[in-house]
Amino acid sequence: MGRLDQGAQPPRYDAHADWYERYQQGAASGHTKRTAEALSAALGPGAGICLDVGCGTGVHAPRLRSLGWQVVGVDLSHAQLRHAVGRLPVAVADAAALPVRTASVDAISASLIHTDVDDWAAVVQEAARVLHPGGSFAYVVVHPCFVSPFAERMDEKLLLHPGYAESGLRFAGPGIGSGIRPKVGVWHRPLASVLNGVTATGLRIVSVQELGASAHPDLLVIHARR
Ligand SMILES: C[S@@+](CC[C@H](N)C(=O)[O-])C[C@H]1O[C@@H](n2cnc3c(N)ncnc32)[C@H](O)[C@@H]1O
Repeated sequence: MGRLDQGAQPPRYDAHADWYERYQQGAASGHTKRTAEALSAALGPGAGICLDVGCGTGVHAPRLRSLGWQVVGVDLSHAQLRHAVGRLPVAVADAAALPVRTASVDAISASLIHTDVDDWAAVVQEAARVLHPGGSFAYVVVHPCFVSPFAERMDEKLLLHPGYAESGLRFAGPGIGSGIRPKVGVWHRPLASVLNGVTATGLRIVSVQELGASAHPDLLVIHARR
């Protein structure tokens, strides 16, 4: 696992990776399990290499591997990858500049990353570049309309505050919660920006799902093909 020159700013997760690992295994374990289930259902069974872009602690690797994929992870945060190395082969890399040959990967999985990468359009462009023609791109994320810095949850009700239409990195807001977001911030991007980031690459969206048991869906699932 090589080191990446980050310049002055270390990756935002470096200082919180140990906390995040405990959080995913503890308080957020239900959410993590649902994310993994949605990701595997979107990707489906397959052989060949699946690149987990922004893999974090690699928590979804075992489930993806059970589908037949050879899962390899990349992430900007060396500290996150210290947890991931026990779960899958990894490399430190910027998802917007993958050290991977063009059209060399059979599938891309990604979860909860447009909320963390600085340039979502560049990240999807890069995913499309490395995918084989016909390869799958499966992406799961919290729903940007109903889980955002501007969406305040009140039991089964949602109070939508102004600000939804503006993209930006936020550390505070009525919907920011008490999990990882006050620590690393969240890149809020409206739904159209998330979807258009995918279509702009030439990837063809096969399906979009909105999942969640409560009155408002909390997960967005995108499956596209190159
Ligand atoms: C919310 S975590 C999600 C991790 C994992 N996909 C999951 O579902 O548990 C977001 C991850 O994106 C990574 N990340 C942020 N910017 C990145 C970039 N430019 N390239 C690669 N990874 C990046 C962070 O280091 C972090 O591990």
